[in-house]
Amino acid sequence: MSDIAEITLEGKSYQMPVVVGTEDEKAIDISSLRSASGYITLDAGYKNTGATTSAITFLDGEKGILRYRGYPIEQLAEKSSFIEVAYLLIYGSLPTTAELQDFSDRISRHTLVNEDMRKILDGFPSAAHPMGILSALVSSLTAFYPESLKSNQSDEEMELSIVRLMAKMPTIAAWSYKNSVGHPVNYPKNNLDYCSNFMHMMFAYPTETYETNPVVVDALNKLLILHADHEQNCSTSTVRLVGSAHASLYSSVSAGISALWGPLHGGANQAVIEMLEAIKADGGDSKKFIEKAKDKNDPFRLMGFGHRVYKNFDPRAKIIKKSADEVLAALGVKDPILNIAKELEEAALNDPYFVERKLYPNVDFYSGIIYRAIGIPTNMFTVMFALGRLPGWIAQWKEMRENKEPIGRPRQVYVGETERNYIDMEKR
Ligand code: CMC
Repeated sequence: MSDIAEITLEGKSYQMPVVVGTEDEKAIDISSLRSASGYITLDAGYKNTGATTSAITFLDGEKGILRYRGYPIEQLAEKSSFIEVAYLLIYGSLPTTAELQDFSDRISRHTLVNEDMRKILDGFPSAAHPMGILSALVSSLTAFYPESLKSNQSDEEMELSIVRLMAKMPTIAAWSYKNSVGHPVNYPKNNLDYCSNFMHMMFAYPTETYETNPVVVDALNKLLILHADHEQNCSTSTVRLVGSAHASLYSSVSAGISALWGPLHGGANQAVIEMLEAIKADGGDSKKFIEKAKDKNDPFRLMGFGHRVYKNFDPRAKIIKKSADEVLAALGVKDPILNIAKELEEAALNDPYFVERKLYPNVDFYSGIIYRAIGIPTNMFTVMFALGRLPGWIAQWKEMRENKEPIGRPRQVYVGETERNYIDMEKR
């Protein structure tokens, strides 16, 4: 017999079913609590609230486990490509050769964006942050594909929206960068794979043929795979919440991009590079910054250390660290901030302050170093995160719609004034 949770309120007890996931995660289903007792539960930041059941990503922060559709992130990062992982996340199983080819071909056919979108892009000042442009242009896709607004899209229509978004996001992302440097945009080359095409649109000069480097493409594939989904979090839950009102895929993902833009969420990889550069400019004494991070009177924190859910290690950080070494060696890049990063990591991992608090390098500690080595400018780091997270957002939006989840509508505990009468202006 399955467990039942008993909640006693004002001397009366209420029985709530216990829900157990396939990895033995346990939850109390309190959905009937309010109608039965008048009580709601209060949980600011949703730290202990499951907003959904989901079959996409499993994460165990204590054990450092991350799996997409059951497959360990380590295996996917080593053996798979980003497009294959996107297929896995969105459709639930690894594709056959024919399915993967078909998915890639369909994406390749939709990489162009409507020329009118360039006029919207032209309207942005060159100082505009690429994340703002990305969010705005993804939302503007609804104007070019109004059928995406239908709340009762057929399977074929939903599929077309998904493929279009996967296809156009790299084009829009690269164009947002081109706008920031005042360069003409590059059009997609559909004979290239997903990552090579993105690098071509970012870096090709009109007068030269851009040669993609397999080391760079491999590193980019890995980084995007590692960011592809992370179960419920600020941006992903935003996508599900906006989508639960039957907003289109494009509007929902645009909202997710805005959520990711926040420095507490997607901005940490940029903060790591800025911190490492500041340490270098200060003479490179990493120990001094370790002491600053430990000083409770100093607001400084070691960026790229610590994680809300990973308390032993971040499995993504392990993979990325190895990849950073390989990429820098293969490209012959000697980045002095890599040495600072290594010193900092070693010093922190041997310091009781960090050991006791279980503060380990997270995914963002090394990702910025790789992005830098392959030429991605710092203001594009969060855009790269968005590009990687896209299949996760799509999969979560699709799952929410297919499960026919109800519109998201949290409750609150009101703590404002109780009823009072309107006071006429002259009496205030
Ligand atoms: N440097 C120094 N001390 C730290 C750090 C740090 N990076 N992170 C946590 N602490 C200390 C904190 O001061 C507190 O100490 P005490 O118990 O003495 O008060 C203790 O460790 C617990 O910290 P917390 O803030 O309660 O931990 P949290 O789980 O709420 O915060 C975190 C997690 C990621 C926000 C935090 O570790 C942090 O600010 N890290 C730096 C920013 C960063 O790298 N963010 C990227 C996260 S990975 C991206 C993703 O997966 O989305």
